[in-house]
Amino acid sequence: MVLYLTASGIAGPKNETTGEDPPPAGHYLFYRSSGDQAREEPLAPPYVASAWRPSFGRPWPAGASDSRDRLRFLFRYLVHYLRLFANRECGAICVYFDNRLVHYSGFTPRYWRFPFMGDDDIQIGNTWTDPVHRGKGLAFFALEKILVMKRKPGRYFWYCVEAINRPSIRVATRAGFELAAEGTWKKPFGIKLIGSYVITSKKQHDGAALSHAGGTSE
Ligand SMILES: CC(C)(COP(=O)(O)OP(=O)(O)OC[C@H]1O[C@@H](n2cnc3c(N)ncnc32)[C@H](O)[C@@H]1OP(=O)(O)O)[C@@H](O)C(=O)NCCC(=O)NCCS
Repeated sequence: MVLYLTASGIAGPKNETTGEDPPPAGHYLFYRSSGDQAREEPLAPPYVASAWRPSFGRPWPAGASDSRDRLRFLFRYLVHYLRLFANRECGAICVYFDNRLVHYSGFTPRYWRFPFMGDDDIQIGNTWTDPVHRGKGLAFFALEKILVMKRKPGRYFWYCVEAINRPSIRVATRAGFELAAEGTWKKPFGIKLIGSYVITSKKQHDGAALSHAGGTSE
């Protein structure tokens, strides 16, 4: 088995069936869904889910004890209160096991990191499952929950994932997301905070919605 490393440090094998080379590091896939097909399935006990929304004195969800997790939520909390999101629908679905946070899936409206989104669209990201609890459907559950909770006519949900991240791609495609575009991640002056996802090629059927994104149709 041939392993390779991406910029994010995720290792993956060369495809042994087709012999194809892996996608290049830093190559991103932009998945999109209207959420129409989503169904809310119950969460298998003993897992318990709850929603987090930025509110005064709650910059991160209960149980977020890791400083990196806290920083991720704090970032969203600040962007929300600075009114830099295109609308007010920022939050996360959190899953607990024995009162410990073992999964979260965040969602935000458009901001500078996702400039290609529509005014009312939502992107789902900042998704993480505790390694001990992976493969039990927690990310899929949270994704479906967000789609059911937030879908409305004319709205699209976006899911941006590095092309090498097979578990994450599987979660999105299983939930009915379709590949809308491909692209990369740009960090002006090497500063992550002001970085953004850039579409470099888009699928034909997305021409209208992505016409302002600057990509080329396939
Ligand atoms: C991506 C992530 C959130 C998925 O969480 P999870 O709770 O394990 O997800 P689920 O159990 O709902 O689904 C995982 C799916 O990927 C599949 N999978 C796991 N490893 C895989 C691999 N190497 N190749 C293909 N599919 C794989 C699982 O079988 C499962 O599919 P299934 O439902 O058809 O069985 C988790 O792996 C994670 O935290 N990764 C690190 C952070 C990250 O990459 N976040 C996503 C950023 S876009």
